[in-house]
Amino acid sequence: MASQHEVMVNGTARPLTGVDPATNALDFLRAQGLTGAKEGCAEGECGACSVMVARPDGGDASRWTAVNACLIPAAALDGQEVVTAEGLGTPEELHPVQREMAVRGGSQCGYCTPGFICSMAAEFYRGDRQPVAAAATSNGSGPHTHEADHEHGENGFDLHALSGNLCRCTGYRPIRDAAYALEQPAEGDPFAERSSRPAPVAAHTRLEGASGIFERPADLPQALALLAEHPGAVLVAGSTDWGVEVNIRGIRAPYAIGIDRLPELRTFHVGDDSVEIGAALTLSEVERGLEGRIPLLDQLFPQFASRLIRNGATFGGNLGTGSPIGDTPPALLALEAVVVLASVDGDREVPLADYFTGYRQTVKRDDELIRAVRIPLPVSGIAAFHKIAKRRFDDISSVAIGFALDVQDGVVAKARIGLGGVAATPIRALATEAALEGQPWTTDVVRAAAEVMGREGTPLDDHRASAPYRSAMLGTALLKLHAQTATPQEVGA
Ligand SMILES: Cc1cc2nc3c(=O)[nH]c(=O)nc-3n(C[C@H](O)[C@H](O)[C@H](O)COP(=O)(O)OP(=O)(O)OC[C@H]3O[C@@H](n4cnc5c(N)ncnc54)[C@H](O)[C@@H]3O)c2cc1C
Ligand code: FES
Ligand code: FES
Repeated sequence: MASQHEVMVNGTARPLTGVDPATNALDFLRAQGLTGAKEGCAEGECGACSVMVARPDGGDASRWTAVNACLIPAAALDGQEVVTAEGLGTPEELHPVQREMAVRGGSQCGYCTPGFICSMAAEFYRGDRQPVAAAATSNGSGPHTHEADHEHGENGFDLHALSGNLCRCTGYRPIRDAAYALEQPAEGDPFAERSSRPAPVAAHTRLEGASGIFERPADLPQALALLAEHPGAVLVAGSTDWGVEVNIRGIRAPYAIGIDRLPELRTFHVGDDSVEIGAALTLSEVERGLEGRIPLLDQLFPQFASRLIRNGATFGGNLGTGSPIGDTPPALLALEAVVVLASVDGDREVPLADYFTGYRQTVKRDDELIRAVRIPLPVSGIAAFHKIAKRRFDDISSVAIGFALDVQDGVVAKARIGLGGVAATPIRALATEAALEGQPWTTDVVRAAAEVMGREGTPLDDHRASAPYRSAMLGTALLKLHAQTATPQEVGA
């Protein structure tokens, strides 16, 4: 491997020489003596491995972004800038986040602490974080500006930034106190200043080792040519699924293609009749880009894993797995999304409703990748995403439901309902849609349609939920949607 492959860690270049493509960023950092970041689970669940990476943030700016180092191949950080807890402050001169955690008792055994520090520091530096009073008087509005509530501090700190970090001994109150005590970065803060400059460009990378080859092409034509040469190569985007396969299942890729920074997969375009979302934009980036334009997705995002995972996870990866329990398909089915597939032969477009063909099977050929997802505009007036899972955050769905309904003059003009977790593939609830369309949006009609919905799909028993429970959840979801959205006349009150 050529020695120019290196990662800038806490301002020091760390060569990737001799690093196997299957080595994750956490093991790479710890092998350098940077043992602050810990391995708690190696599957993205605990955040003990959290580090900050400088990511693009539109124009010439960058954004410190917290990610799970245990999931990302070290090779994917070639040319990138990483900051670990060691790089933020020193025992003599603590970083504001470290100081608040120390003085407010936010750390006991300390195992989780460096990970919390990095997630908290990324939120500390979030450019649009501002105190509530300032947000109220400036033009601060939209999905990232909040009143102080049980999840947002007076200082604008969004506790969801810590939703991917677990602490087993301190208790979360002192950690929350530390987060809410943070002020704005001081004048001249080097990390805040770094954000006004662009993130490093993605380097062309080729790393060979005993487990295989990791290659990051420079652009889409190169990526498609590599895929044509190595059909079935593993495409690595955010690596939030792939990293688990590597760490927990011990799977190795003879050939992996890094696609997370391909410019053609990171486009975002809002047109008159559709929004096109690049397949390699992270969910956090899509959420910011949409600025509330698609309310159904705004309901989905906070329920999808944790902020740490959403900082890596992509639409392309969620659809690329073909999983029947991914959370984006039920929402995207309800939104009548189209998948744009690319190969050396060019693009082809497939309605998502025709994309899944069987358990983890799709129409995507081995020489194709997902370039983008297109959502038609305007979106329906009634939208909801219901996720039934054992935990509120950072859990896989037992059942997920996306609703998009148009009700005009009290009559359901259009109903699109996507379901996950109740069949071998994500499906549309076609019988329920038919039971609703053209009918008044009334309690009686909805009760009858809810019975139909309870019979949709072919739910199975597994460790997450029983089949009868899944069916019951389908029916009650429609009743809940009606109760939350109908007018008093429609409810019959
Ligand atoms: C702790 C944890 C919590 C999670 N919670 C949720 C959750 O709440 N809901 C949920 O739906 N998922 C969840 N996931 C799963 C995962 O985060 C998502 O599936 C995510 O969208 C994967 O995106 P990625 O970019 O990380 O994919 P990667 O891991 O990079 O890739 C996953 C697969 O998709 C393929 N792929 C990637 N990009 C493309 C593309 N553009 N074209 C074709 N194929 C592609 C890859 O080859 C690979 O096989 C969770 C994962 C973890 C670790
Ligand atoms: S080690 Fe638990 S999330 Fe990485
Ligand atoms: S301080 Fe012990 S796990 Fe958090």
